[in-house]
Amino acid sequence: MKSKWPLVALVCLFLRTEAIDYRSWSCEPYEFFLDFYRCCSESKLSERSEPSWTPTTYVLYEVNPSEGFNLRRDVYIRMAVFMRGLRRMPGWENTKLVLPPWSELHHWRSNTINQRNLTWGHFFDLESMRKFTEVIEAEQFFREFERWSTGSGRHEARKPVSINEYYRLTHFDDMFENGVFVDKFEQTPCTKALTKDAPGFMRLHATFEIDDFYCVRFQGAATLLYSMFKKFGPERQPEIRTIFVGNAEVVLHDHWGNVDYWEARRSMRFSKTLVSIADEFRLHNFNSSNERDRVQRPTSWTDERPYRKAKGGDFLCAHLRRADFLYGRDKTTPTLHSAAAQIKKKLLELGLRKVYISSDCPGMEFNDLKNYLRRFKVVRFTPESRAQMDQLKDGGVAIIDQIICSQARYFIGTYESTFTYRIYEEREILGFPRDLTFNTFCKHEEATNCEKNAVWPIQYE
Ligand SMILES: *[C@@H]1O[C@H](CO)[C@@H](O)[C@H](O)[C@H]1NC(C)=O
Ligand SMILES: *[C@@H]1O[C@H](CO)[C@@H](O)[C@H](O)[C@H]1NC(C)=O
Repeated sequence: MKSKWPLVALVCLFLRTEAIDYRSWSCEPYEFFLDFYRCCSESKLSERSEPSWTPTTYVLYEVNPSEGFNLRRDVYIRMAVFMRGLRRMPGWENTKLVLPPWSELHHWRSNTINQRNLTWGHFFDLESMRKFTEVIEAEQFFREFERWSTGSGRHEARKPVSINEYYRLTHFDDMFENGVFVDKFEQTPCTKALTKDAPGFMRLHATFEIDDFYCVRFQGAATLLYSMFKKFGPERQPEIRTIFVGNAEVVLHDHWGNVDYWEARRSMRFSKTLVSIADEFRLHNFNSSNERDRVQRPTSWTDERPYRKAKGGDFLCAHLRRADFLYGRDKTTPTLHSAAAQIKKKLLELGLRKVYISSDCPGMEFNDLKNYLRRFKVVRFTPESRAQMDQLKDGGVAIIDQIICSQARYFIGTYESTFTYRIYEEREILGFPRDLTFNTFCKHEEATNCEKNAVWPIQYE
């Protein structure tokens, strides 16, 4: 390409007899032949009022680094529901939600593979998510920003990304004022350094420039963000407005478990690659497929309807959270022996011979569990090769677990585990009767009245 420039410059000189700095041209040589006037008029380009850019607002957000994958998915739903509402407000129609890259989450413990800078498309079907509201990957935001900030994005060095308003949210010390929980927010002095807040974005693009930095105590649902943006933001919408919400987990759901919640949740279909790996595993181990299991799964989530007739494959799934739950939650976490006894009882009751285990337990514990359940087929998913592990990552393996569990005849989960809750939701979407889904392990197998997870059935209207 470069070699054509001297020729182009000569033609321009011939036509305009002006000294031309061709580095500031915003067109490629081939465009030159189509529109040589624009190409030769170089820096005057910006003076002409070309309506080349629709005013756009980008809302970026990040979650406290210590939060795990499954809670982050929940924070996404709060933001997505908010975004859909926001885009209906005058002046906000062209707002986009920028998805925070996934980077080295706590529970992603395989440290021999690269688990940084992962896109949402790695785990989810973005096209399906976009049928709920306008979301884009971080990389796309950087590209769009660059294109806007350099006019063409071709001849200038990469500019820092400007964030017009950065809001770092924190909780109020006292949630209840005179015993009442009220929605409110209030600016406070800032103390901590910024880079700790947004490791995902920062890693991807280290050169953020922040115009206005606000530390805000925040209490309330996502819609309250709108009041905050209005209060601190500019009066007139600029061409590009970039807003960053740090610690977005502080924001609550507008209405947890209502129709909006479930639409956003249903739109979060998993990536096709992960689904096909899980499907192959189901077919091979359990002779299970969507048709045979009578689950509801139209091509688009927008075609899903109330349905309760799913049957599931001929296997039970147990999600058995171990690791840190053994310490922090030993009062509710069963021993392996007790968990095995509870699984066995259910298998016999349902006349099933196969069980799928989703667990963060080490291989030795898994073998113990198999020994306790010797008369049954006990399996779990492990990547078939190092290359596949490299491709899937810990997050992808967790999702494959969730897909397989969501298709089982019967599911038992762990008390107060967000991983378990995501499986409950998936099964609600697929249309299982509630009693086959909302089950919780007890600490002791003989307990009949132990604490159970909440039941949040799907809502369609
Ligand atoms: C993540 O992205 C940043 C910026 O593109 C890059 O410098 C860094 O090396 C990436 N990290 C990994 C592990 O790919
Ligand atoms: C799988 O299921 C189908 C339909 O229920 C059945 O016809 C077939 O024999 C099964 N295959 C095996 C290997 O069990």
